[in-house]
Amino acid sequence: MSSEQFMKTRRNFVKLSAVAASASLLSGGLTVFARGVAAPITLPPLPYAESALAPVISANTLSFHYGKHHKAYVDNLNKLIPGTEYADNSLEQIIKKTAGVADKQAIFNNAAQIWNHTFYWNSLKPNGGGKPTGEMAKKIDAAFTSYDNFKKELSAAATSQFGSGWAWLVAEKGALKIVKTPNAENPMTKGQTPLLTIDVWEHAYYLDYQNRRADHVTAVIDKLLNWDFAMKNMAG
Ligand code: FE2
Repeated sequence: MSSEQFMKTRRNFVKLSAVAASASLLSGGLTVFARGVAAPITLPPLPYAESALAPVISANTLSFHYGKHHKAYVDNLNKLIPGTEYADNSLEQIIKKTAGVADKQAIFNNAAQIWNHTFYWNSLKPNGGGKPTGEMAKKIDAAFTSYDNFKKELSAAATSQFGSGWAWLVAEKGALKIVKTPNAENPMTKGQTPLLTIDVWEHAYYLDYQNRRADHVTAVIDKLLNWDFAMKNMAG
């Protein structure tokens, strides 16, 4: 399943019949028409059990990270967008329209954090990590000389991101690159195609690793990265 496929929000619209929903007010004969109501953005299911990534990421961490943090971004966005121009947009449309717009930052932050977390869950898998094979191995060697250099660059991006943010493997004009973004920001707003990501917000690792972000990042790279997902994203 590609990122585009899973990110397509299934947002059906409840088309209320204006006639059926209209209500005549007794005084003045005014009529109120109910508008179409957008179905809420939904929290996508985790692609594995909460315990599936242990011991690298514990079920306790996943329970809070997915069930509290990710869910909160969904709940927040569903309070922010009704009645706005974004009410019936996809997440990608909301992210691209609100990126860098000062008075839309809350909408951007929550929309991007929903997208980033769904992408992150899919960037990981049980018994993943280590050297990719096949076409992805060739692309990693072409871009970074070797897998070891790739790992060093990704670790450096993930550990040097000051404060909250994300480390990403992206494709830009056909070439692979590693980038880092602060807070909720996403490389798609800069014309890059995300292939994999690592969440380096403290909530991603603090229960298991406390301040040892580097140890967490190394374990994720060695044991959890989902190269199949990266390859599907590369293929678009
Ligand atoms: Fe997170």
